[in-house]
Amino acid sequence: MRAPWTRRHRLLPGLLALACLATVAVAAAVPLTTPPARAADPVLVLDATFEDGTTQGFRSRAGETVAVSTAVAHGGTHSLLASGRTASWQGPALDLLDEMVKGTRYTLTVWVRLAAGQSPGQVRLSVQRDSGGTSAYDQVVGDTAVTADAWVRLSGTYVLAHDVDGLSAYVETASGTADLHIDDFTMAYQPTKPVQTDIPALREVLAADFPIGAAIGNRQIIGDQAVLLRRHFDTVTPGNALKWDATQPTEGTFRWADADTQVGFATDNGLAVRGHTLVWHQQTPAWVFTDTDGTPLTSDPADKALLLSRLEAHIRAVVGRYGDAIGVWDVANEVIDENQSDGLRRSRWYEISGLDYLRTAFRVAREVAPTARLYINDYNTNVPAKRDKLRDLVSRLRAEGVPIDGVGHQMHVNVQWPSIAETEAMLRAFIPLGVEQQVTEMDVSIYVDNGESFPTPPADRLLTQAYRYRDLFALYRRYADELTSVTLWGLADDDTWLDTFPVARKDAPLLFDTELQAKSAYWGIVDPTRINPTPTPTVSPTASPTVSPTVTPTTGPDSCRATYTVINQWPGGFQASLKITNTGARAREGWTVRWRFPDGQLISQLWNGTVRQDGPDVAVTPTSWNSALPAGGTVEFGFLAGWSTSNNRPVGFTLDGLACTTG
Ligand code: XIL
Repeated sequence: MRAPWTRRHRLLPGLLALACLATVAVAAAVPLTTPPARAADPVLVLDATFEDGTTQGFRSRAGETVAVSTAVAHGGTHSLLASGRTASWQGPALDLLDEMVKGTRYTLTVWVRLAAGQSPGQVRLSVQRDSGGTSAYDQVVGDTAVTADAWVRLSGTYVLAHDVDGLSAYVETASGTADLHIDDFTMAYQPTKPVQTDIPALREVLAADFPIGAAIGNRQIIGDQAVLLRRHFDTVTPGNALKWDATQPTEGTFRWADADTQVGFATDNGLAVRGHTLVWHQQTPAWVFTDTDGTPLTSDPADKALLLSRLEAHIRAVVGRYGDAIGVWDVANEVIDENQSDGLRRSRWYEISGLDYLRTAFRVAREVAPTARLYINDYNTNVPAKRDKLRDLVSRLRAEGVPIDGVGHQMHVNVQWPSIAETEAMLRAFIPLGVEQQVTEMDVSIYVDNGESFPTPPADRLLTQAYRYRDLFALYRRYADELTSVTLWGLADDDTWLDTFPVARKDAPLLFDTELQAKSAYWGIVDPTRINPTPTPTVSPTASPTVSPTVTPTTGPDSCRATYTVINQWPGGFQASLKITNTGARAREGWTVRWRFPDGQLISQLWNGTVRQDGPDVAVTPTSWNSALPAGGTVEFGFLAGWSTSNNRPVGFTLDGLACTTG
């Protein structure tokens, strides 16, 4: 989609004086006089009602007709009609170059309705930004159902994070060319809360353990986001700017603007940079895998040589450009597919070159950046089958001399999954290899399946999330000798990739909320006693007076639930996990969990607790960091044990002598 940039109506230049929250009058849009009631209320910057019979600055994008109409109106008697559209991206547009201030958050709102007689469809609100002759398009509000019978409101926030020489907001359709009306457009400045300066800096709290990082885009290095980033973090990972589609969209043509800006910001502010990523099956342009005449490359020697030479040239250019500014590279990303018997993802890279793309990538990266740490990075590395296949590949390649220094665990997890024990097993699995490890992309989704969607994060999910952050970071800190950094995939909930992945819905997976304020998740890491156990529930309040910190409701004054899972079993041995949930209303400190093995099983090693076994009877007490078991909280152990004739489940689970239900 590309539309010629035409300015049919020049708006008078207006400067938004944010400091004094002044409103701006523009030639066509109506200036507002009502001051904000409170500082946090949105401040209207401009609006367009079309009641004066003009288009108030709105114009067509490319040849369609945009004119005032009195056929229907949302408010008053006038609206704006776009007709004669010949492409779905055509629609009424308003130039905003002189109105929007880079780095400031705005709410854009518009009412939309299809013209009489048009079949139902979908509309969206988008922004076009132009710079140096190239246009990019951002969605402010995604596809929304609309008919000719009713007005629908599109409203979303937008932050301009780039230097631009053209900027406009416009309404388009998802498909088709229906005539459409818009009305009552507003653009409001959204005042932000100040970045908190009276809370500990994460990087200081974790200073003795590992550097803490955040994934960034241009939006995180301006305004309040930049203040928050500098305050709490040691390292950054450009979330997209160093990927192949960003740096070399067409062969031999490199685009460095975003990567230079982000790496430059990091260097200027003393932040270390993780480079992400050199070879991946996604966000890689199609040209990489096709001949100059457009034929897909095959595994024949000439095609393979071409692919590897492209890979080498790419790595030389990208890694070479940043030199010492980038100390760690995710050389390879997501190459494991545990469903293949050999564990290797059937990517185009693999299909054309076998494992040679990995050998080439690491060799060239080492040559160009001899002191950088070179990583292989993947998701779901806690899943035993995937973990083991990754471990096998890394040990095989290292044995060949491929310079892999470290394993990156993405850790895109959620409030329920995975268990601490499985995460610990993930870290332990790579220790024998003698590689470094990093957590590279952590976020904790509030959703446990793709069907859920909450307009605002429910209080109980946020609380469960806080305990997850607490427990996972407690684990990381215990493994601080293995982990050379931990990175979160984002800075704050105002900008997370999980808002659109795996489905579109608002997620809240990070430590700071959409207003950049510390969440309970942050306190889970910094000081778990300050996790707010009774936040006001925003969605589906539970019947009990206190909000349960787990997704499961509380069941009584003194009760517990034991969930026992055999994770893996082999002749003579097995690995199991036990989760104890305090379903009672009372917090417990310094608890004891007991059970009895029916078949003479014998524990050889247990993590997340201290174990004593006396014949069939087992007792577990806390380690230094998990002795508090709040109402609704859980503790989870993992262990390795031996068995001989059979391995039936343990019985008689108790918490402080209290019998637990199982399940
Ligand atoms: C994500 C980015 O955050 C998104 O902005 C982009 O649209 C898709 O990619 N695993 C990775 C990251 O290794 O590169 C992905 O980043 C998230 C999953």
